[in-house]
Amino acid sequence: MKTILVTGGLGYIGSHTVVELLQNNFHVIIVDDMSNSEKFILDNIEKVAGKRPVFFPFDLKRKELLYQVFEAYEIDGCINFAAFKAVGESQEKPLDYYENNLFSLINILQEFKARNISNFIFSSSCTVYGQADQQPIDENTPLKMPESSYGKTKQMGEEILKDFATAYKKKVSLLRYFNPIGSHPTALLGELPIGVPNNLVPYVTQTASGIREKLSIWGNDYDTPDGTAVRDYVYVVDLAKAHVKALQKLMAENSDTVIDIYNLGTGKGSSVLEVVESFERANEVKVPYQICERRAGDITIAYANADKAERELGWKAETSLDEALRTTWEWQKYLESRK
Ligand code: WQD
Repeated sequence: MKTILVTGGLGYIGSHTVVELLQNNFHVIIVDDMSNSEKFILDNIEKVAGKRPVFFPFDLKRKELLYQVFEAYEIDGCINFAAFKAVGESQEKPLDYYENNLFSLINILQEFKARNISNFIFSSSCTVYGQADQQPIDENTPLKMPESSYGKTKQMGEEILKDFATAYKKKVSLLRYFNPIGSHPTALLGELPIGVPNNLVPYVTQTASGIREKLSIWGNDYDTPDGTAVRDYVYVVDLAKAHVKALQKLMAENSDTVIDIYNLGTGKGSSVLEVVESFERANEVKVPYQICERRAGDITIAYANADKAERELGWKAETSLDEALRTTWEWQKYLESRK
């Protein structure tokens, strides 16, 4: 049984990926500093997967603690989710983002180098493309320097991993997520936004449930069919499955040095208004909203050409927007039932 270190494994995409790894007979070790999660998620992972991962609650910047984990377990690969990810916050606290997101990454890579371990999956983001000149976006689309420090840590992380793979003959896979949404079909796992949600779908959900009074739609004067910005909303369980496939591909590779890069999206763009309409239709609820000024730093449109992931990983996002948004509503009701 192969052992995988999953950093940030109690987070949103991390927890769903841990379930898929456990269900594919991997042994999982989670390191998570709990800055963006809660302990009950670990219990719920066990309920969903029928197995409990090993869990260490510490900050990956603590090199001495990370060393202990690598001493205690024979690790065969890593999926690195651990990172601060609030775009707006990253503009106020850039040094916190560079220190946390990059020092954590480098600490793990130092252990991989010292112990000659390969198979490293990096949680990247379509934000590395900025506002691409053409749509859909494929892996050869030129990168643009992201506006946010958060986005810059993703682009820098990719560069660090390319050099790591080349210099030390390692196998890495850079997974560029578009917009992850939804919750587990069991309603036991989902997004835990702390404070006021930055992302659209958690805000829509909290508006529908009455926690927020009204959704602010940031701009309806974009050059899109209905004037609101367009994104590629990909279901989180489909995304989690892609991580297992990317890992299995890396582990099966015989060559020393591998740098895989995949866009993970549905290949379909949906506007903000279409997301609101889909949520209302899927859940038979109303989402009151108001049109506001554009949010600084937002791009007009981004959706994926995910053909490469389909061709090389045998992966395709299967879940519709309505279905993904139905799971989000079920998760919200579960959260409210826990109070
Ligand atoms: C989507 C659309 C908003 C909230 C960011 C990061 C990306 C990834 C996902 C981490 C935009 C509009 C939003 C609201 C709105 N980060 N919106 N009202 O900005 O595409 O991507 O989050 O994994 O790396 O860049 O996602 O959900 O914030 O916004 O109108 O209250 O919804 O303007 O057009 P975004 P988002």
